[in-house]
Amino acid sequence: MSEKYTIVIFGASGDLTRRKLAPSLYDLFRKGRMPEKWRIVGLARSEFSDDAFREHIEEGVKEFAKAKYDGKKWREFASNITYLKGDINNLEQLTALDKSLAEWEGDDTANRIYYLSIAPSLYENTIANLGKAGMVHEGNGWRRVVIEKPFGHDLVSARQLNAAAHQVLAESQIYRIDHYLGKETVQNLLVFRFANSLYEPVWNRNYIDHVQITAAETVDVGHRASFYDGVGVMRDMIQNHVMQLLSLVAAEPPASFHAEAIRNEKAKVFSAIRPIRPEDVAKCTVRGQYRKYRDTEGVAPGSNTPTYAALRFFIDNWRWQGVPFYMRSGKALAAKVTEITIFFKRPPHVMFPMPEGTEPAPNRLSICIQPDEGISFSFQAKVPDTAAEMRDVEMSFNYEESFGALSIPEAYERLLLDVIKGDASLFTRSDAIELSWELIDPILTGWDSKYAPPLNFYESGSWGPPEADQLIAHNGYKWSHCCGHEPGGD
Ligand SMILES: NC(=O)c1ccc[n+]([C@@H]2O[C@H](COP(=O)([O-])OP(=O)(O)OC[C@H]3O[C@@H](n4cnc5c(N)ncnc54)[C@H](OP(=O)(O)O)[C@@H]3O)[C@@H](O)[C@H]2O)c1
Repeated sequence: MSEKYTIVIFGASGDLTRRKLAPSLYDLFRKGRMPEKWRIVGLARSEFSDDAFREHIEEGVKEFAKAKYDGKKWREFASNITYLKGDINNLEQLTALDKSLAEWEGDDTANRIYYLSIAPSLYENTIANLGKAGMVHEGNGWRRVVIEKPFGHDLVSARQLNAAAHQVLAESQIYRIDHYLGKETVQNLLVFRFANSLYEPVWNRNYIDHVQITAAETVDVGHRASFYDGVGVMRDMIQNHVMQLLSLVAAEPPASFHAEAIRNEKAKVFSAIRPIRPEDVAKCTVRGQYRKYRDTEGVAPGSNTPTYAALRFFIDNWRWQGVPFYMRSGKALAAKVTEITIFFKRPPHVMFPMPEGTEPAPNRLSICIQPDEGISFSFQAKVPDTAAEMRDVEMSFNYEESFGALSIPEAYERLLLDVIKGDASLFTRSDAIELSWELIDPILTGWDSKYAPPLNFYESGSWGPPEADQLIAHNGYKWSHCCGHEPGGD
């Protein structure tokens, strides 16, 4: 008896399928990483014949796959793809889908992935219907459900979504994708911290002054305005991507590389973060909006939705007590860049003569998540032919230089392969989602209250409101250069 794998994509006519899922599955196929017997079944309400659907997907593959398009390979790949017109709210149609899947599966062990590439408002009903149609029962193979972020709009809705999912599925069947975690540089954080002996001894409050995390976008809200206006930067970027990066930087060493060991440590970080109380938001957070935001079609008149946020968290545990974690994210900023920077403490005493009122720059470790993926460490060096003049210099590692141009796969490729293999390390567990919302909710409440800091307006193409510089300006610190992009420059 052999094993068969089916990937059912709900919402197969949509943007995510065309731009990410199909190209990533094609890339996996080209690398010979798909199982021996597999198929993709797309489902949506739009009318497509199998061939028309394959053509629709082919365009996406040509444009977005990393592997070079090859007609022969494509036809081989496409022969495994079919389409079914259907509505996920319609139980009869789901039952018909189940029947057609079972026909192909026969008596073989049959594993299925249900990928929910649909609007979040449809998640609960779709999962419930999968349950009612008997499609998640793991009798002759596993059943896994992949959910895209956002996982809830706030703590209450996140709890409700988790509870609804758990009515039908075991937690081990749920794979919540945060594509940031599929990026090589993010995965490398664990290797960097725990496969090298040099950094862990100094990775704590004794040596680290503070940590900065930046996730900056150059794009504005564009055609997503009507969606974004009800969401804002805290829900769109901070609650998920940025908080995930924070948990990986701050986690204790997991005892093993197993998903649960890693996810336990990440959850512990969230539970140790000191919540920012609504009455403290003006002290610990900055919110901004780019000037032209309110002119965008789809944005409510006079909207106060923040397109920029900067905040400061403390983690109340032995490792991090007193170390500020500064985070910022925004749209229409000067550069598209995601970076984590660790600022080490300055030396306790400087014996070198320095101009009055100056100090050597602190050692800085910059982990550039995107673009220019790599890591650099800056330290003081003596300027040649001077008595003792010092300058900041860098040692750096760059992925492309070390591993070649094609070394970095699309995040979805890694994540889809992990779902097939059943490795949930890079997926977010229900408790971590809720713990993260427990930290974000009070900030959003504060921003809606009399305690709210002013909404600061900033120019598109800048690095956000200057108030964010004041948030970080203790001991003369500034926001990091961000993978070489000077703050204030481009
Ligand atoms: N696009 C991205 O880059 C991206 C990135 C991160 C997360 N996400 C998340 O991924 C999910 C999908 O996003 P998307 O951009 O692909 O959205 P999209 O382009 O609007 O696609 C939604 C899909 O859902 C289908 N659909 C809607 N109602 C349905 C129903 N009742 N039954 C069956 N199919 C139905 C639509 O097709 P029909 O109209 O033909 O039924 C369409 O194929 C969302 O949760 C989004 O938040 C997307």
